[in-house]
Amino acid sequence: MNVLVVGSGGREHAIAASVAKSAKADKIYCAPGNAGIGQIAECVPIGAMEFEKLVAFAKEKAIDFVIVGMDDPLVGGLVDAMEAEGIRTFGPRKNAAILEGSKAFSKDLMKKYKIPTAAYENFDSAEAAKTYLQEKADFPIVLKADGLALGKGVLICNTLEEALAGVDTIMKDKKFGDAGNRMVIEEFMTGREVSVLSFVDGKTIRIMTSAQDHKRAQDGDQGLNTGGMGTFSPSPFYTEEVDAFCHQYIYQATVDAMAAEGRPFKGVIFFGLMLTPKGPRVLEYNARFGDPEAQVVLPRMKNDILEVMEACVDGTLDQIDLQFEDNAAVCVVLASDGYPVSYEKGFVIEGLDKFDGAEGYYCFHAGTKRTEKGIVTNGGRVLGVTAKGNNLKEARANAYAATEWVSFANKYMRHDIGKAIDEA
Ligand code: AMP
Ligand code: GLY
Repeated sequence: MNVLVVGSGGREHAIAASVAKSAKADKIYCAPGNAGIGQIAECVPIGAMEFEKLVAFAKEKAIDFVIVGMDDPLVGGLVDAMEAEGIRTFGPRKNAAILEGSKAFSKDLMKKYKIPTAAYENFDSAEAAKTYLQEKADFPIVLKADGLALGKGVLICNTLEEALAGVDTIMKDKKFGDAGNRMVIEEFMTGREVSVLSFVDGKTIRIMTSAQDHKRAQDGDQGLNTGGMGTFSPSPFYTEEVDAFCHQYIYQATVDAMAAEGRPFKGVIFFGLMLTPKGPRVLEYNARFGDPEAQVVLPRMKNDILEVMEACVDGTLDQIDLQFEDNAAVCVVLASDGYPVSYEKGFVIEGLDKFDGAEGYYCFHAGTKRTEKGIVTNGGRVLGVTAKGNNLKEARANAYAATEWVSFANKYMRHDIGKAIDEA
């Protein structure tokens, strides 16, 4: 099969690396890709939102299978555009990607189908939101821009004043753009967060191994929210009891709800869960692999990824026995100092070759670019260094050792990725 992966981050590198291991893969392309992906696939300079160009490219190169990694093109309808030309594509259509594309939609869906989540109200106007805050709210409270906001459209407000200002930030100042045309105000929950990714074929769901992300920029979960500074898998907090609860009340219920709404979901559903004292609750849905969850989950998957993805497209996922290695993986993100606010780019990265042939070690590129000087930093998140181990402690020690193999100016990382496992 000729395969086209759409996206340019560490997640797409992890996806492309799994595809490269598939017995079914011939030629792999990635649009637009990055310097690391360029070592295993041919990168083509077409942006993920340039649908016409992507479709034309797929036809020209006789692409058999397209994998859309990122949320924006999924929510924008890239799968529909490919399918309209008869090109088999992994990912939800636009009418199903709304599960991630609109938080108001997903909250209403959960309410209608009694899927456990935080209590909430949706608002179309800043005035109505403020009246609600003044008359009904308990604090802290959570404000969410309705649409896609790079994972940053969530404000946790401790006081009424903060919340009123937050409404202006989202709906009046439009800090998150059109994502703030509507907003959700929801109950603040406490507990440990777990990311559970799944493959879905419209009716059947297969759960992958669990993971946990570290969203804040600094150690001890301090600092600003980022796209994710590191992950570990599996999560020791995702117990059999939690798994049983989620199977009973969340996973299949979500797939069935989407089908009942005439929006059958095919692709990856990412369940962002919070393990509250009252039981697991859905924090959010994503319509794609997590980044950097994919970087710890996919290296542990035993199946041929193309076989599983084709089963999702064909509606035959019930015939797939999804299997993961009985080990652990940790990913530490190497970022540019100053991320997520402002940072410099263009610094040469040394030591990448140390990963060549190192079994159980992976260096997934996020923001990198090949230049005549060599491979240079080209983003806030630069690399995701993943290592496996027999257990989480070993995987963590291995991953941190491997972070020393590479160097570049302004290299920044958290030093406590996976530290929570000490408490498990
Ligand atoms: P989201 O993009 O919805 O995952 O939200 C980003 C982060 O905000 C989550 O990972 C949580 O840490 C936090 N968050 C979101 N919703 C809530 C909530 N209802 N209660 C507490 N924290 C939340
Ligand atoms: N790591 C969180 C996300 O991909 O949304």
